[in-house]
Amino acid sequence: PHDVYILAIESSCDDTAAAILKNNTVLSNVVAGQKIHEEYGGVVPELASRAHQQNIVPVVDAVLKQAKITLQELHAVAFTQGPGLMGSLLVGTSFAKSLALALGIPLLAVNHMHAHILAHFIKEEGFDQPEFPFLALTISGGHTQIVKVTGFFDMEIIGETTDDAVGEAFDKSAKILGLPYPGGPLIDKLAKEGNPKAFHFTKPKVDGLNFSFSGLKTQILYFIQKQTAVNPEFIETYKADICASIQHTIIEILMEKIKLAVQETGITQIAIGGGVSANSGIRAALKATESKYGWKTFIPKFEYTTDNAAMIGIVGYQKYKEQQFNDATVASKARIAF
Ligand code: KG4
Ligand code: ZN
Repeated sequence: PHDVYILAIESSCDDTAAAILKNNTVLSNVVAGQKIHEEYGGVVPELASRAHQQNIVPVVDAVLKQAKITLQELHAVAFTQGPGLMGSLLVGTSFAKSLALALGIPLLAVNHMHAHILAHFIKEEGFDQPEFPFLALTISGGHTQIVKVTGFFDMEIIGETTDDAVGEAFDKSAKILGLPYPGGPLIDKLAKEGNPKAFHFTKPKVDGLNFSFSGLKTQILYFIQKQTAVNPEFIETYKADICASIQHTIIEILMEKIKLAVQETGITQIAIGGGVSANSGIRAALKATESKYGWKTFIPKFEYTTDNAAMIGIVGYQKYKEQQFNDATVASKARIAF
């Protein structure tokens, strides 16, 4: 079999990303973020769509140049079909379709959530690949899922959030503390200097493997309002302790459910993905289970945890090998069946 060169495009939310893969290795991987949303404290769909239109050509041009690959050398174009923001998805979908059509090469539609999970199969020195079956914990600004993965195209959601995603819990807590968007990385940074047991937040009671984070956000809001009424300097004085305590609570919620999932499935290989898996506290808690319970855990390279196109490319590569091509009628989907 010959080497396969795939151009992958990701535009589901507020990052315009492209990557070139040679089989299961990444030759180039570029992400153009969108600063424009910062002042709004969240992603504004219309602005995201417009920024994708401005970014997509330069980003694709950059990955081709970095990989030293010409358009004529490509074997296929992979793109994110969904889930995501419709206006954002449409930009990547239209671009991928036109390019594949113009070059006369196959088109590969990829589910963004599958990609966060299968990112573990990108070949990288120093990173092990999980074996089937494994449990995937996908934690991002839009999703919180526990997925039982039995094959590349054989996955089942066994737990998910009933309201906010875990990334939203981080971002909304950060907003309450007056931190800029996205606040997750800032909470992580501040938490390192704080006491995780300084303040106590109660964990939500949710049956089975599902999650809930909206109650935690409300609890934090009331707590801060109450404390600030007594001491206007409360946030400034205890910022690190507050962040450490919030992060500690979120880690406990996640670890409790993962432990339950292991109990219920008997699967002890755990792979995490999604932007929140960059969190140092979550990484440490997960790693600790290896010596504590004998689990095997997989944490992808940082650049493959947040939204990126390399993960779209690796799913595209698996689809390419199985000749699962899409025709030009394929359309973006804001919501997509797993
Ligand atoms: O996967 P991602 O880039 O985009 C989505 O598909 O949502 O995830 C973004 C989310 C944001 O909520 C951001 O605050 C969070 O990931 N995040 C973190 C950290 N780095 C990114 N949350 C906690 N700790 C971090 N270090
Ligand atoms: Zn994502």
